Amino acid sequence: MGVAMQGLVGIVTGGGSGIGRATCVRLARQGVRVAVLDVALDRGQNTASALTQDGASALACSVDISDASQVRLAVDRVLSEFGRIDILVNCAGVYTVGTVDSISERDWDSVLAVNLKGPFLMCQAVVPAMRRQGGGAIVSVSSISGRTTSMLAGPNYVASKAGIIGLTMCLANQLAADRIRVNCVAPSTVDTPMNASLSPDQVTRLEERVPLRRLATADEVAAAIVFLASPEASYITGETLNVNGGAFMV
Ligand SMILES: NC(=O)c1ccc[n+]([C@@H]2O[C@H](COP(=O)([O-])OP(=O)(O)OC[C@H]3O[C@@H](n4cnc5c(N)ncnc54)[C@H](O)[C@@H]3O)[C@@H](O)[C@H]2O)c1
Repeated sequence: MGVAMQGLVGIVTGGGSGIGRATCVRLARQGVRVAVLDVALDRGQNTASALTQDGASALACSVDISDASQVRLAVDRVLSEFGRIDILVNCAGVYTVGTVDSISERDWDSVLAVNLKGPFLMCQAVVPAMRRQGGGAIVSVSSISGRTTSMLAGPNYVASKAGIIGLTMCLANQLAADRIRVNCVAPSTVDTPMNASLSPDQVTRLEERVPLRRLATADEVAAAIVFLASPEASYITGETLNVNGGAFMV
């Protein structure tokens, strides 16, 4: 895979932490030049400097993916620094717990804005460059909670992650003629800062629901993302790949 991805350019949103950071590391190891986009510039810069210290090309860019003008500026910057965009990984997201009674309209709007509108805006912004180049690969991060019932996640989070699966199928169909593949991964609970507030009891209960009896690591999810982004997955588009230790099988 290394030679096949050498010199490609990849954007990873949420690249400052967790699954996004692990994806940046894996892409850089394949020779991909990586643009780390994150609303938290310090975290993005931290990832980018780790990559450059390892000899890779990387840049960090502060962007709130729910803001169309910030998204356009960030994509323009990547194009002016790296000259092309071959891969987009939509990883940035926010998690919420809650119920139909507890979620306010504001909670609904803010989560949908980051988790669903953000990936759409990112796709919209990179597609013209990918078309010009004759193709590309987009991989978004959905969740097991977008596919089946969830123990803790709020309805806004669940709806956003189910929405990612629909967006993936729609864009895969619309962009296939441009040789742009669009896929997503659906992880179960992953050991990342997003889950730092889970109690040991909650972790144990989550692990008991997984046939492999443990949480995923960020790197295990990144491996699936990089596979889907790579030429190894050249005939896969519109797919949602479970990365869930067997917790939900279809
Ligand atoms: N951790 C899990 O258990 C799990 C399970 C299934 C799916 N996911 C999904 O995987 C993705 C990554 O999760 P993680 O666990 O690595 O989370 P994380 O909290 O470790 O990292 C998320 C990153 O996204 C960034 N971000 C948040 N809002 C943003 C915005 N508006 N614009 C740009 N960047 C923004 C944050 O600053 C952070 O660096 C998310 O979409 C999440 O919903 C996570």
